[in-house]
Amino acid sequence: MAKAVLGIIGGSGIYDLPGLENVTEKRIESPWGDPSGPLRIGEIAGLPVVFLSRHDAGHRLSPSDINYRANIDVMKRAGVTDLISLSACGSFKEELAPGTFVLVDQFVDRTHKRESSFFGTGCVAHVSMAHPVSPRLRIHIAEAARAEDIAVVRDGTYVCMEGPQFSSYAESMTYKQLGYSVIGMTNLPEAKLAREAEICYATVAMVTDYDCWHPDHDAVTVQDIVKVLTENAEKAKRLVGRLARDFPREHEPCPIGSDRALDSALITAPAA
Ligand code: ADE
Repeated sequence: MAKAVLGIIGGSGIYDLPGLENVTEKRIESPWGDPSGPLRIGEIAGLPVVFLSRHDAGHRLSPSDINYRANIDVMKRAGVTDLISLSACGSFKEELAPGTFVLVDQFVDRTHKRESSFFGTGCVAHVSMAHPVSPRLRIHIAEAARAEDIAVVRDGTYVCMEGPQFSSYAESMTYKQLGYSVIGMTNLPEAKLAREAEICYATVAMVTDYDCWHPDHDAVTVQDIVKVLTENAEKAKRLVGRLARDFPREHEPCPIGSDRALDSALITAPAA
């Protein structure tokens, strides 16, 4: 059985992982180009944990410019078996107020200029994205949240927009009427690539705003996002700390096969 290694990708406002101990910073080369930055490799409660800041220190990378393939590739090379994204997002539901953590279980793709596959001409593969999030990982996060008395919503649909501009009112109302829960600019390429890399993936969507549909709230600004994230940093740290403490030390096979997704996905005939 493989050793479990937890990967954490931190989004806007999350450029470091407090609680990560015995850290070494490592730049891993990838044939896919430059990842967002160096990996911070360490441990929490004895569990190996690898942290990557998605936008890099100082938030230098826009969502469209992130090299998602390199990011997932270096996580794989670092031995990551289970990957969690901690990400700010906007909310389309009254009850998902700023400060709420949502364990999304579905994604909708509204991006249009992302490289989000390791496969292509010469070697074609079609992995299933019917269930993009590893249910086992979601359960572990939900249990860690319960143990820490952190309220989480256990499901929801994340629509991934291209950005970098926020949505128009018409777009926001459309997503709301379609029943989507939250919106962000980054998580879907990661979920797709993690699946192709046979890494279990889950998102903790940290609601920072009501986007621009809510009659009683102003349209989202960067300042709103940073303010709410700062207020929730301590909660996120406790969640990750507990998750690491209670996380199984041996990688558990994914019940939906995220960790062996390529077994049934390759279609190109082997070279004769
Ligand atoms: N990230 C945080 N809030 C967001 C919003 N309203 N739209 C897109 N990405 C976000």
